[in-house]
Amino acid sequence: MNIEWSSGVRSSTLKGDALCLIISEPQVLGEGLPAEWIEQVGLLSGTGLFNGKSGQIYLLPVSGQPELPVLILAGSGNGTPDAHELRQLMAQVARAAFRLKASSLIIRIPDELNLSPEALSAVTAGQAIAEGLVLGAYRRKHYKLEQPAYTGLNAVSLHMERKTEALEEEFWKQGVKRGQAFGEATNLARDLTNLPGNLLTPSELASAAISVAERYGFPAEVLDEREIELKGMGGLLAVGKGSVHPPRMIAIRYQGTNQWENVVGIVGKGITFDTGGISLKRAPGMEDMISDMGGAAAVLGVMEALGRLRPRINVVMLIPSAENMPAANAFKPGDIITSLSGRTIEVLNTDAEGRVILGDAVTYAREWGAERIIDVATLTGAVVSILGDIATGAVTNSEVFLAELLEASRLSGESIWTLPVYPEFREMLKSEVADIRNAAGRYGGATTAGLFIGEFAEGLPWIHLDIAGTAFVSKERGVNPRGATGVMVRTLLEYLLHLDTDPGNHSGSTSA
Ligand code: BES
Ligand code: ZN
Ligand code: MN
Repeated sequence: MNIEWSSGVRSSTLKGDALCLIISEPQVLGEGLPAEWIEQVGLLSGTGLFNGKSGQIYLLPVSGQPELPVLILAGSGNGTPDAHELRQLMAQVARAAFRLKASSLIIRIPDELNLSPEALSAVTAGQAIAEGLVLGAYRRKHYKLEQPAYTGLNAVSLHMERKTEALEEEFWKQGVKRGQAFGEATNLARDLTNLPGNLLTPSELASAAISVAERYGFPAEVLDEREIELKGMGGLLAVGKGSVHPPRMIAIRYQGTNQWENVVGIVGKGITFDTGGISLKRAPGMEDMISDMGGAAAVLGVMEALGRLRPRINVVMLIPSAENMPAANAFKPGDIITSLSGRTIEVLNTDAEGRVILGDAVTYAREWGAERIIDVATLTGAVVSILGDIATGAVTNSEVFLAELLEASRLSGESIWTLPVYPEFREMLKSEVADIRNAAGRYGGATTAGLFIGEFAEGLPWIHLDIAGTAFVSKERGVNPRGATGVMVRTLLEYLLHLDTDPGNHSGSTSA
């Protein structure tokens, strides 16, 4: 999707398949409707069909104007919309444009959107608008014989009638660029997560990662099953053993400063399909386990956006990837395996495979120089019992680190809820025969699973994000479609970009 910014002309003189007017509740009642649209929209007041409530959409055909055949009225509520409302509203607008089969859309940005004291800055507003549009325009790829002629929304023109000064314009464009990068990175993660297990194996996930790395010239490494074994990554090797699609350890490095310092490690669970292995899952709903690489997709999406925005920070991405299958040579309950860290793991349940591969990846992130680590994983059914598909569960060993990430999640609108870490939970991971065991029973399952991974951080500040409920959802809500959501891409990006203290650099103009 191409998004452009312009200002200084009346929106009625523009051409497009549809024009979106952002209209507040007071405006519907007659206070300051855009002059050229007063007649068309004014007809609606009193009908009760459109009242400008936040998030409301109403489609209105325009008579006698073939170059602008339809209006999309988008309600902005009673006050100035915040970033969250604006993002959601724009996702709705994008969906309305799809219903109209519009390929070009003009959005009239209200003159005062970023002017009142309580309003958003132009950067924030531009980001929220572009992000919402790109997120709302997402469609899952399908594999039907018949492909529809309509290819989606191609061109969006954001338009402000008030002529903006060069500096304000620069801020709007910066925000739009950032929102577009965040949105498209999320859509990349959604595309990968929606791919079924037969079309995305560990080696294909590695290819997807390599193509991101090559696009931006990032150093990357993919270890195959032989190298995984030679390195001593016994966890990833064990989980991957039962599949004809061998495991991979995938690494990408993004260096945005002269020194390789203050490195943040982002680690994503890359199980391309989780049958449960010998501890086989039951059949109903097992098809959703195509999404068990949602964490991997999220961290790869982050790298894609870093390539575009080039902040002055340092990040290493790691994806341990395997397919968890029952097979004659699969790992088994009772097995004792030796992880990369040297720690031995007693396997009690082969369906608790995520933590086993993530342990090795966290150790490897340390080898790559990570000084702080965030892991993202569709890790437990237990977190779904607690938070449903509403929020991502967090486990951490550093309240300070987590506070920064929670701030980022407020900006992204992706909810995170912190799970309590009592020392007793750690006790539950003790094994009689090994250093740690991979399953600790039903109680506190989301916390104990997280703490298992945390052991491998060995004291480095670490946050675990359990996206089992939020990565793949059964119905459309807010900016998310049904299926893969790409959750945590935008939160991680908000966090990472905030580490680059010069806000002007986020546009990427300095590195061009
Ligand atoms: N991939 C699953 C977790 C999951 C469940 C993700 C639902 C998305 C939706 C994970 O590997 C798993 O199977 N976890 C087990 C752990 C248990 C055996 C200790 C679980 O939660 O049941
Ligand atoms: Zn799993
Ligand atoms: Mn599992």
